Amino acid sequence: MKVYFDNAATTPLRKEVISAMTEVMSSCFGNPSSNHSFGRTAKSYLETARKGIAKLIGAEPQEIIFTSGGTESDNMILHCAVKDLGVKTIITSPIEHHAILHSIEALQHNKKINIQFIKVNEKGVINKSHLASLLQADNSKKLLTLMHVNNEIGNTIDLQEIGQMCHENNALFHTDAVQGVCHYTYNLASLPLDFLSAAAHKFHGPKGIGFSFVRKNSGLQPFIYGGSQERGLRAGTESIHNIVGMYTALQIGYQNLVVEQNYIEGLKVYFIEQIKLLFPKVHFNGNSDSMHHATYTLVNVSLPISKEKAQLLDFHLDLKGIACSKGSACQSGSTSGSHVLNCIQKGEISEWPSLRFSFSIFNTRKEIDYLVSVLKDFLD
Ligand SMILES: Cc1ncc(COP(=O)(O)O)c(C=O)c1O
Repeated sequence: MKVYFDNAATTPLRKEVISAMTEVMSSCFGNPSSNHSFGRTAKSYLETARKGIAKLIGAEPQEIIFTSGGTESDNMILHCAVKDLGVKTIITSPIEHHAILHSIEALQHNKKINIQFIKVNEKGVINKSHLASLLQADNSKKLLTLMHVNNEIGNTIDLQEIGQMCHENNALFHTDAVQGVCHYTYNLASLPLDFLSAAAHKFHGPKGIGFSFVRKNSGLQPFIYGGSQERGLRAGTESIHNIVGMYTALQIGYQNLVVEQNYIEGLKVYFIEQIKLLFPKVHFNGNSDSMHHATYTLVNVSLPISKEKAQLLDFHLDLKGIACSKGSACQSGSTSGSHVLNCIQKGEISEWPSLRFSFSIFNTRKEIDYLVSVLKDFLD
């Protein structure tokens, strides 16, 4: 049996997405910048997707800039905010994705910007009074970047509240919503945020495509130089089949959001019940056992297993066809471990093996039963 519980890493494509992409690849190869009918057809796919995506998240079409995915979107926003908007201080948390953390390290090194990290507690929850004091600290131009949904522990933040804090303090606000878009609704017309990053492969779309939401009149200048595509911000011939695939995935995801959310939430609840029965001392990392303070799509657990056995756990799961993600603080095979777990785990638990299980509509309870039986056999 093959079981895929690593949907936070990437998701399988919906069949409708594959059909839409195949149709574009076979019938529409024109360059959207060309002035003839082939180009116009491609352009019409491109702009229909842009309009449709914008509508689904309450944005305006001109505010959607297609990119190659989450990493590029994050890089683009952070680099351009420093380059074009005079940002001198970036405030963030130590548990962001490396697309953020490594970008701002580079900016600190190359552009001498100031980085401030918000304190987080042992559940991975940011300290809001510390954030307030960092936002008020001095008169430098600031940008706050905080992910909407943490990819390792699932913690969510209140974008409305945090965005409000930024705007009251005249700071720009970017959210990496790579794990949030198509899992939650967004109305960007009213949310107090300036920039957002998204990637299609996290919501049953293709890899290598995503978008940045850039609030209109932001003042951003080109990130990739070349032609005039994407309003000159991100030059390069657009990947029409990927963009159409992303739009299709987003459309279907949002059409079915409530039903699918309930279904996946049911899987998470069942998983938590079963894992607690098997390991009464199981530790849930971050807020990942919560439905209100973490996403319904993932659970990150540390299991009370001896060190010797723990070393064989990944291998055993893989052998049995189960794919999940190793998220341990520091285990053999990984030199530094997870920066997120290293930041929040204390004492004995940091010695236990940690695993992230992330679910999608293509998973079933039967698969959870299989996982539990495989873990039971492993313990015996
Ligand atoms: C929160 C978050 N940000 C950024 C990324 C990077 O996105 P991509 O793989 O599309 O470059 C990921 C992917 O794992 C992610 O989970």
